[in-house]
Amino acid sequence: TWTTEAFVEESVREIRAKVGDKRVLLALSGGVDSSTLAFLLHRAIGDQLTCMFIDQGFMRKGEPERLVQIFDQQFHIPVVYVNSRERFLTQLKGVTDPEEKRRLIGHEFIKVFEEESNRLGPFDYLAQGTLYPDVIESADSNVDPQTGERVAVKIKSHHNVGGLPKNLRFKLVEPLRKLFKDEVRKLARAIGLPEEIVRRHPFPGPGLAIRIIGEVTSERLKILRDADFIVRDEISKQGMYHDFWQAFAVLLPVRSVGVMGDQRTYAHPIVLRLITSEDGMTADWARVPYDLLETISNRIVNEVRGVNRVVYDITSKPPGTIEWE
Ligand code: XMP
Repeated sequence: TWTTEAFVEESVREIRAKVGDKRVLLALSGGVDSSTLAFLLHRAIGDQLTCMFIDQGFMRKGEPERLVQIFDQQFHIPVVYVNSRERFLTQLKGVTDPEEKRRLIGHEFIKVFEEESNRLGPFDYLAQGTLYPDVIESADSNVDPQTGERVAVKIKSHHNVGGLPKNLRFKLVEPLRKLFKDEVRKLARAIGLPEEIVRRHPFPGPGLAIRIIGEVTSERLKILRDADFIVRDEISKQGMYHDFWQAFAVLLPVRSVGVMGDQRTYAHPIVLRLITSEDGMTADWARVPYDLLETISNRIVNEVRGVNRVVYDITSKPPGTIEWE
């Protein structure tokens, strides 16, 4: 039977045997896979591991700070925090097409990744949180024909990245490759990762950038981040966080008329997207109590400047997608 202690011990042995005295680079994403991966590698090889976190500026409120804090203070694993917020925003200036946003973000991510790995390296290995289903999906596509070893062609923390340039084709360490997601969660819990990471809702690589319809600006990011925080805060307070597959806010670039006090307002709507799903392939809008919708709506309109209307998305997938872009 599968026990976490046995798994950790075996992984540590395997990692040490494979890596020897070489250096390993790991890009944290804030999710459960890369966090668990960091723990295992650090246990196995200590400071031969470099963890970096590239902050694109599209995470949710407080998330980057919290991640670095958990690693530093709870696990004593140093994290190289790379603040790239400005350069991602610059890339997205004037861009409104969803796929173009993804492409530009992916491209910029690789550039930052390359610069940072040159600055911090050299590294022989890249640690990836590949899970069993990913191994099956990608079949043989990234096995080096000469050595039979798996070689990095993509960065898992970023679905949309076109591919790693040749000079970044590190060898891979993938200690989670035999696990399914529920086993990673079990392991994550056993090693003491907080529930906020263990059971975090899926969050897209391009983050809030694809939840702002149209152009991404720092003002819009602030509005969406504050609204999104209220959504999560209220459903957590109601003990409902785990009732949803995902629960988030979307900011629309249009404006509508409203009234506040004796002032006419002309501001953005926020869309609430609260959904249930088994696997993200199909999804249903959640039948939540009206009181919850009311509380969220009141708080967003009262607390977030720049928003004067909240609407609820009652479209399932299909025909809608989960995200709006
Ligand atoms: P859709 O919107 O296609 O989303 O119904 C299905 C699942 O995929 C997530 N998603 C993404 N994840 N990069 C990611 O890493 C992306 O560009 C991306 N787009 C959608 C979405 O959050 C949902 O869980």
